[in-house]
Amino acid sequence: MAVLVTGGAGYIGSHTCIELLKAGEDIVVIDNFYNSKPKAIEMIKEITGRDFAFYENDCCDRQALDRIFSENFIEEVIHFAGYKAVGESCLNPLMYYNNNINATLALLDTMNKYGCRRFVFSSSATVYGIPKKVPVTEKMPLSSINPYGSTKLMIENMCRELYTSDDRWSIVLLRYFNPIGAHESGKIGEDPNGIPNNLMPLILRAATGKMATLTVFGNDYPTPDGTCIRDYIHVVDLALGHLAAINYARKNTGCPAFNLGTGKGYSVLDIINTFEKVNKVKVPYVIGARRPGDAAECYSNPTLAKKELGWKAERGLEQMCADSWNFIKNN
Ligand code: UFG
Repeated sequence: MAVLVTGGAGYIGSHTCIELLKAGEDIVVIDNFYNSKPKAIEMIKEITGRDFAFYENDCCDRQALDRIFSENFIEEVIHFAGYKAVGESCLNPLMYYNNNINATLALLDTMNKYGCRRFVFSSSATVYGIPKKVPVTEKMPLSSINPYGSTKLMIENMCRELYTSDDRWSIVLLRYFNPIGAHESGKIGEDPNGIPNNLMPLILRAATGKMATLTVFGNDYPTPDGTCIRDYIHVVDLALGHLAAINYARKNTGCPAFNLGTGKGYSVLDIINTFEKVNKVKVPYVIGARRPGDAAECYSNPTLAKKELGWKAERGLEQMCADSWNFIKNN
């Protein structure tokens, strides 16, 4: 019996594999290394001292999925594999629909065929569009403001309709806020191929001199320091949320959605200042124009996850900043 982790070499996937293995679960991993590296698989094994089956395949590859399900007894699937860059999705929407939707369809079809009906999906706070008020609760209206967000919303809808059609399914939709940080060992962390899009990998580039300056996207928002506010969550806390979701899916059918955030909002300048203070390093930055599509404030109300999953984020911003830096220094 094993949990299949798609995209298990990626940033959130690799941290989740570690927590699953540490908790005594058996896992099987599929990843095509589109936005990750084989080293992550080695590091998961090194950190946990445990081995597992790994398949270097694309999740859209139905033959490969068939092989995985026939060679292993898969009881649950955690689905991380997918493209995740908002800007790229606007430039090439078909690439996002093709990959994210087809991979999920292939996976759900294969699961159905093998009678495996516990599914945890990597959704995102992006399904709230530009939230009308904060903190964001799961009951707030859903919308999408870019093709990446559309794929997340379409997959959520697909899951809800699937459960409505067949109530044997146990599906958990996890809506992530902004994951940062890295494993305390410094051996795995966020290591995107190519130019990063998100704030923390860009802070790391500016702090190490790989990039001359970070551009802060706007300081004229209606927030205390004028910069945007987000709910940054330590990736290990996020990984533990998946463990809680798997345990929930083992006991309940349905298709609920849960916010995985801390419930606390920090501005871009809060992140830069905390990073500089904790790591005693400068982050050269300039203030630039607003980035289209950015909400002034987006942070979660995480109480539903606490109540239903028994999960809560424990790690604070200083630890997130220290662990991100530790990973970069070690690599
Ligand atoms: N930011 C900068 N400069 C940069 C990059 C980011 O100032 O060079 C700012 C952004 O304006 C934003 C904050 O840093 O205020 C965080 O930006 P990210 O791009 O890291 O994250 P977002 O909140 O825009 O997006 C994240 C995920 C998406 C998800 C979205 C919705 O990356 O996958 O949250 O909640 F869709």
